[in-house]
Amino acid sequence: MSILWMQRGWRASLAMSIAAVSLAACQKPVPSTDTVPAAVNPAANTVQSAARNVATTAASAHSVKMWVRYPQPNQSLSPIAVLGKQIFFDKSLSASGQMACATCHSPDHAYGPPNALAVQLGGVDMRSPGTRAVPSLRYMGFTPKFTRHYSVPSPDGVEDEGPTGGFTHDGQVDSLHEQAAIPLLAANEMANGNAAGVSAKLQKTGYADQFAKLFGADIFNRPEAALTKATLALEAFETEDRSFQPYTSKFDAAMAGNVDFSAQELRGYTLFNNPAKGNCAKCHIDIPGPGGRPAQFTDFGFQAVGVPRNPEIAANHDPRYYDLGLCGPARKDLAKETNFCGMFKTPTLRNVASRQVFFHNGRFHTLEDMMHFYAERDSKPSKWYAQRNGNTLPYDDLPAAYRANVDRVNAPFNRKKDDPPALNDEEIGDVIAFLKTLDDGYSTQSGAKRAE
Ligand code: HEC
Ligand code: HEC
Repeated sequence: MSILWMQRGWRASLAMSIAAVSLAACQKPVPSTDTVPAAVNPAANTVQSAARNVATTAASAHSVKMWVRYPQPNQSLSPIAVLGKQIFFDKSLSASGQMACATCHSPDHAYGPPNALAVQLGGVDMRSPGTRAVPSLRYMGFTPKFTRHYSVPSPDGVEDEGPTGGFTHDGQVDSLHEQAAIPLLAANEMANGNAAGVSAKLQKTGYADQFAKLFGADIFNRPEAALTKATLALEAFETEDRSFQPYTSKFDAAMAGNVDFSAQELRGYTLFNNPAKGNCAKCHIDIPGPGGRPAQFTDFGFQAVGVPRNPEIAANHDPRYYDLGLCGPARKDLAKETNFCGMFKTPTLRNVASRQVFFHNGRFHTLEDMMHFYAERDSKPSKWYAQRNGNTLPYDDLPAAYRANVDRVNAPFNRKKDDPPALNDEEIGDVIAFLKTLDDGYSTQSGAKRAE
């Protein structure tokens, strides 16, 4: 496997240089070790003032305030998006009559799961379990198409960041409309089986006339076309409706210079960026992207993080079953690329604190547990992985042959057995305080202050 893309990115080092400079802005020496100043000079306790210093201390950097361009408040939805909104919330489009897209992707939970189930139940009788945790549908807009070799410009030319992009945890589809057909048809989700099933249900809805007006009077005689149009309508809703990309978090307000982080949030932000500590920003990028787009908190890349096997998933009761992400079984085309086995897409961390399930298999249910796993994965393996004959099976949700794919290069994954954890309990608390600033709903407008 190419070391080059194991160590994803100069983009993330840029994030680090900002964090380093923000410390410089606190008139403390830039830490080259694991220590972060415990007390931060309150006068300099703002990203904005840190950013101002970025402009003066780092020749190539700009102020954060200048970088972020929040999208304009949207105009009204197009007619096809209005239709898509009705489809998204319509339970009558499922075989059970009890399940809509919104059942799993709850608008009250950042379009993520409304409960703590690792996987949801669906199907004709609403008792068929899924195999993966439900992702948030917010901030999908900049997802690139899937590619095995994602090239980004780097100071030395072009860098290969490895497999990147696509929708779902394994990047198997390249568009939101292709994606939407999956749950409409899947036996353990909306369970329509085929296009005719979907078309027949659409024809009985209150918006059937509107559907026919937009797509032709004979549309329901052409079930394949009706299914495609329904998925295009869902795509339009997910793309146009502002609720899918509000950018109303405290983080956004801080980046726009409208609010200060608390001292604890600022410590968490620094640990998040520090390559020797959290190193989170290496993959969950927290600086604006091309064109000044707000930070997406993902590089859309794939990594094997070695999440422990989750006994809450019914499919895992069969010891021969493994969800290997990029190399199958859900995705078929990369089955032979065994160096991809165990890799899943890096999710955005926006709204992560509103979730009750973490990672592709929903193995963790609190941010505390999830963070302790990251900090202690290799220093205390027996805490996380199954035991056999008194030995720990490292990375126990992967067959032995693929365990070498797990990232052991990047902090916080670079510890050895019995090393101190990458982050101690206090630091974990700080990172969680920062993660909570990523929840939308702090203000009513993108990048704005909270209304008093
Ligand atoms: C039974 C629960 C359930 C229902 C109902 C459901 N989904 Fe999902 N959705 C999931 C799960 C689980 C995944 C992850 C799938 C995977 O990785 O294979 C997902 C993934 C997605 C993604 C990919 C997100 C990303 O960033 O990669 C989109 C988009 C999506 N769903 C849209 C929809 C739409 C539109 C509908 C309605 C037509 C819908 N979903 C219905 C559970 C559900
Ligand atoms: C080397 C890249 C990398 C680094 C470094 C990294 N992550 Fe992740 N993160 C991932 C990937 C990949 C996943 C998805 C793994 C999976 O589902 O199997 C993930 C998943 C997560 C999730 C689960 C989110 C969800 O919606 O289920 C959280 C929370 C998270 N990371 C937080 C962090 C924090 C905090 C740090 C720093 C302490 C960090 N990550 C460092 C790549 C990384």
